[in-house]
Amino acid sequence: MNLRDAKILITGGSSGIGFETARTLIEAGAQVAITGRDEAKLQAAAEKLKAHGIRADVSDAADVQRMVDETVRVFGSMNVLINNAGIGSFAPLVALDLAEFRRVMDTNVFGAMLAGQAAARQFIAQGKGGSLINIASTAAQRGFANGTAYTASKFALAAMTECWRAELRTHGIRVMQLNPSEVVTEFQARMGHQQVVNETKLRAREIAHAIKAMLEMDDRGFVTELTVWATNPK
Ligand SMILES: NC(=O)c1ccc[n+]([C@@H]2O[C@H](COP(=O)([O-])OP(=O)(O)OC[C@H]3O[C@@H](n4cnc5c(N)ncnc54)[C@H](OP(=O)(O)O)[C@@H]3O)[C@@H](O)[C@H]2O)c1
Repeated sequence: MNLRDAKILITGGSSGIGFETARTLIEAGAQVAITGRDEAKLQAAAEKLKAHGIRADVSDAADVQRMVDETVRVFGSMNVLINNAGIGSFAPLVALDLAEFRRVMDTNVFGAMLAGQAAARQFIAQGKGGSLINIASTAAQRGFANGTAYTASKFALAAMTECWRAELRTHGIRVMQLNPSEVVTEFQARMGHQQVVNETKLRAREIAHAIKAMLEMDDRGFVTELTVWATNPK
């Protein structure tokens, strides 16, 4: 697609991968709406990016419908969803808290489903195809110690990606999955972890670059799944 024709909704665009992706796509000529739950942080990010900010929690069905409706109202239509909002939580099985597991699933799985559903309905109603990128993770490809909640949520997102792709292809809708390896963002600090930051680690910029390339391919084709690793992380 030509990014000058792109009317994009990015969930979780107030920091990290979503923020940098919004910046990259706006620089390329796209119109971009970003979401997040923290209103002050979201509006500050939107102002900086010259994006449209919509306070919305993806785990809330009414918020999700409102964010899609507002994107369509502001841009006239919507042809890209980047399903990016996500949280982490890591604990060994024997210490895993059910409420915490549910909190991760609420955003990473049920929230992604609600956003994908609202976008798909909009794309189908418009009748002009569309592009949907699910931001999964290398945690969608293999499990690891302490990863029960997070990897389960990302494996579920990968499974939904395959189902949506099978259902939506006939409508000209491209359903894609991107798997970043570790990226330097606020993701780990939000869990109280101190991330090791150095020049070998992936930045959100590398992920934004991959997303831009996936969208820019002519609509007759699409990348089903893309995984991004750091070359030699220390
Ligand atoms: N960083 C990594 O190493 C890494 C690696 C692989 C995959 N990923 C995935 O990449 C995506 C983005 O992560 P990031 O690293 O950029 O993290 P981040 O810097 O913590 O950004 C997360 C964004 O999502 C928003 N968000 C979280 N829960 C939300 C909800 N329920 N509804 C709406 N917005 C919500 C946050 O804003 P509010 O808190 O204000 O809502 C924020 O804008 C996630 O899906 C994550 O799983 C990250």
